[in-house]
Amino acid sequence: MRHHWGYDMAHQAPAGPDLTKGVVPAGFHDDKLVGHVGDQEILLVRRGSEILAIDAHCSHYHGPLADGLVVGDTVRCPWHHACFDLLTGEALRAPALSALSCWKVEQRDGKVFVREKLAQPAPRSKPANAPDKIVIIGGGAAGFAAAEMLRRRQFGGSIVMLSNDTAPPVDRPNLSKDYLAGSAPEDWVPLRPDDFYKDSGIDLRLGTDVTRIDSKERRVVTAKGDVPYDRLLLATGAEPVRLPIPGADPSKVHTLRTLADCRAIIAAAKSAKRALVIGASFIGLEVAASLRAREIVVHVVAPEKRPMERVLGPDMGDFVRALHEEHGVLFHLEDTVASIDRRRATLKSGGTLDVDLVVAGIGVRPRLALAEQAGLAVDRGVVVNAFLETSVQGIYAAGDIARWPDPHSGANIRVEHWVVAQRQGQTAALNMMGEREKFDAVPFFWSQHYDVPINYVGHAEQWIALRLMATSRAGIACSSTRARGARWR
Ligand SMILES: Cc1cc2nc3c(=O)[nH]c(=O)nc-3n(C[C@H](O)[C@H](O)[C@H](O)COP(=O)(O)OP(=O)(O)OC[C@H]3O[C@@H](n4cnc5c(N)ncnc54)[C@H](O)[C@@H]3O)c2cc1C
Ligand code: FES
Repeated sequence: MRHHWGYDMAHQAPAGPDLTKGVVPAGFHDDKLVGHVGDQEILLVRRGSEILAIDAHCSHYHGPLADGLVVGDTVRCPWHHACFDLLTGEALRAPALSALSCWKVEQRDGKVFVREKLAQPAPRSKPANAPDKIVIIGGGAAGFAAAEMLRRRQFGGSIVMLSNDTAPPVDRPNLSKDYLAGSAPEDWVPLRPDDFYKDSGIDLRLGTDVTRIDSKERRVVTAKGDVPYDRLLLATGAEPVRLPIPGADPSKVHTLRTLADCRAIIAAAKSAKRALVIGASFIGLEVAASLRAREIVVHVVAPEKRPMERVLGPDMGDFVRALHEEHGVLFHLEDTVASIDRRRATLKSGGTLDVDLVVAGIGVRPRLALAEQAGLAVDRGVVVNAFLETSVQGIYAAGDIARWPDPHSGANIRVEHWVVAQRQGQTAALNMMGEREKFDAVPFFWSQHYDVPINYVGHAEQWIALRLMATSRAGIACSSTRARGARWR
């Protein structure tokens, strides 16, 4: 179980009344009540005369489900919108992937008692026409969620996951947040412990670069040999754009995508006094916040007038700038870095900054080379249909590379969000097993700046008007009627 944002279970008494002793229905607020059985906090949800009991905290980062939304038989986590089945505890929607426990409830003598944990429901049976061999290219958000869903739904064939990363699938969003800031331990970073893959029969092959897809012969080509498939999921993600300026070679200018990238920044941060972050969008500013937590002087250089204005508009841009300035970040906006020479960055405006750590967060590019080589339809992303199938039968695509027909906007869109990639991986998994499930999730992303989370729901190409809504954790939820492309930088 992961804890987040300073939540420390070891030092807190469990909340609410002892549910084994019974509570009166009048104690419910908005049809919800939190109490405990032993140390375990439990959320009771009233639906008419029925009362359901489920673990009170989200299996993603321990978000308080009591503050979440109950819709039908589900409860949604207020933090990053995972969704759980109140009847079975199943994590129906990412980013949570692990089920919660449901508890037996008894109503007697005008009181509600919680008894023992209910047994996990029997797994659903797999579709009859599932193939034998599924290959996943990519060990990131989409690839991992697909593999996990295949096994969760009893897929009995082989799963080979090929990743050219040397680390098993990691919680990438944490790489610019708590882990980089030094406030999250290393064991928060892997999505699952190493033995998960062997135990689940997932043949994870790390450090394996796929160089070609032979769609006629249904096999993928790697330097370590060919891998045959019946269904293939392409989930190669995106790679950071590199700065095309003198002196910006990778040994001097860090980018952040992998755990290895993050470790390199942390190693450099240990002796750094002054850092330069190039780019003032989500990743750049999360890196700035994390380096401030390490008490490093941080300069941010970016061409825009306000941070994040392109996506969130001027009011939010001013808010985000003020927030970072309160924490000591020094902005050099409407400026760019012209060159880097050893420890000195020269700005286009003529100024210079002496720094001992440089991180560039200036955007990412989807990795489309394999799709193009395989002859898949590509249009600023791999074109997929509502079932996430590409133009070549049997090959699916998900995550940062996929451009899909979004039923909400009516447009073909591609976004770079963690939760979208995971949910697409899950839908692709079901469809590779022979189901026909359309991908119709509303895009969602979150970003974290110090103690302020920013949540963004939906997708729009440009912003027109913005309404800011304070959330329960003093965070900001943005509702934009025309927010331009919620793309990651
Ligand atoms: C530091 C950071 C912080 C972020 N924070 C957030 C956040 O807070 N909220 C949010 O919504 N989004 C966030 N994002 C974006 C989010 O992480 C991505 O949208 C998501 O990871 C995309 O998932 P994916 O599966 O498409 O690609 P990835 O997760 O990038 O996975 C791609 C995988 O493909 C592998 N691969 C690529 N090419 C090949 C090949 N030829 N052969 C073999 N393997 C290959 C890679 O090694 C990798 O394992 C963040 C991104 C970064 C980098
Ligand atoms: S803590 Fe619940 S979705 Fe992240």
